[in-house]
Amino acid sequence: MSTLDLPAAADAAEIARTIADLDRRDPLKAVRDAFEIPAGLIYLDGNSLGALARPVADRVRTVLTHEWGRDLVGAWVSAGWIDLPRRVGSKLAPLVGAAPDEVVVADSTSVNLFKCILAAADINRPRSVIVTERGEFPTDVYVAEGVEQATDGRLRHRLCEPTALAASIDGDTAAVILSHVHYRSALVRDMEALTAKAHAVGALTIWDLSHSAGAIRVNLDSAGADFAVGCGYKYLNGGPGAPAFLYAASRHHASMRSPLTGWLGHAAPFAFEDGYRPVAGIGRFICGTPGVLGMSALEASLDLLHGLDIAEIERKGRQLGQLFIALVERRCAGFGLTLASPRDPAQRGCHVAFRHADGYPIMRALIERGVIGDFREPDALRFGFAPLYLRYRDVQDAVEILRDVLANETWRSARYAERESVT
Ligand SMILES: Cc1ncc(COP(=O)(O)O)c(C=O)c1O
Repeated sequence: MSTLDLPAAADAAEIARTIADLDRRDPLKAVRDAFEIPAGLIYLDGNSLGALARPVADRVRTVLTHEWGRDLVGAWVSAGWIDLPRRVGSKLAPLVGAAPDEVVVADSTSVNLFKCILAAADINRPRSVIVTERGEFPTDVYVAEGVEQATDGRLRHRLCEPTALAASIDGDTAAVILSHVHYRSALVRDMEALTAKAHAVGALTIWDLSHSAGAIRVNLDSAGADFAVGCGYKYLNGGPGAPAFLYAASRHHASMRSPLTGWLGHAAPFAFEDGYRPVAGIGRFICGTPGVLGMSALEASLDLLHGLDIAEIERKGRQLGQLFIALVERRCAGFGLTLASPRDPAQRGCHVAFRHADGYPIMRALIERGVIGDFREPDALRFGFAPLYLRYRDVQDAVEILRDVLANETWRSARYAERESVT
């Protein structure tokens, strides 16, 4: 079932029955048991930081006690630490529609973006323009600005209006950076169509998959994408600051160059040669020593995802979102909330945003009541529906608490007004 049938005239009992039925028939319901979700909490922020799964905690403990604790430096070989960036990349690859040797796990999304921009622009010389869209996740724009500065303007950043994207990609464009799922609205871009448009004028594409990987189906290879990056700590549940991933289409492997020519991207790191020689393939995007604890956590989390059907995950995430929208519009009508995400589930990732002029204090009040979402300036309340550990009844409970916060105006308390350092 890809759409949720909740008749407008349904009464409370009918809604309760529908929700109980959805939970009973949920093919992913058993997966929740693998996660540590604190009692009494409704966690709707898995699109920011995914929850901790028990096998992940077990794996990190093993790395600490058995591998680092016992084998010390020998664990680079005995535990296969040295292979982690490629091994974890190959496990992530099927989730983004890539071949195992097209993905590597390393660094942060921002750093990987920097590598991809320079690699794409290098392939596409003498073109000099990097296009990003206004309203993109800030790091995508900032890194493009930084590339312009670092190259003393040889590469130029062009920030375009979302409505003018097609017109902004022209014969000067080396690469265009786009989010597959928008961080604020959850709007899904048509990767295949936009890649074809970019290619038609000779531009390459760099996709940010931070809000797609592990949440919805992604088909980088069949869409003809060139490069992609994404976070390991959102729907991939790799933990706070988990390493990010980088994809490069195999047709670029022979010619692509990484601007960060660290020793672990060298063809023979332990030959300790004086000059840099890149290793063949995706491995040249590895720069320095991998953070083994974070990599191991992400690997364990991907092992948990292995064998689950991503189409099923996508379907559930969208249904949870659809239920949320339907219930908010029934139960919270008249309180000033406006949907800021596509209503059509097929055009939406796994989170939902509502706008409200007092969004920040409302979110703070909700969090204090145990409903954890987040706030994005200037007015968006964001609610993430991570399909692996959320139940349909969590959605209903969250909406009832939201209604209560709005109806009783508890959010007006002065203590909710002050911005925290992380929103
Ligand atoms: C679309 C998008 N790109 C990038 C990032 C952040 O990347 P980094 O791992 O470098 O902090 C985020 C973080 O929320 C994001 O939403």
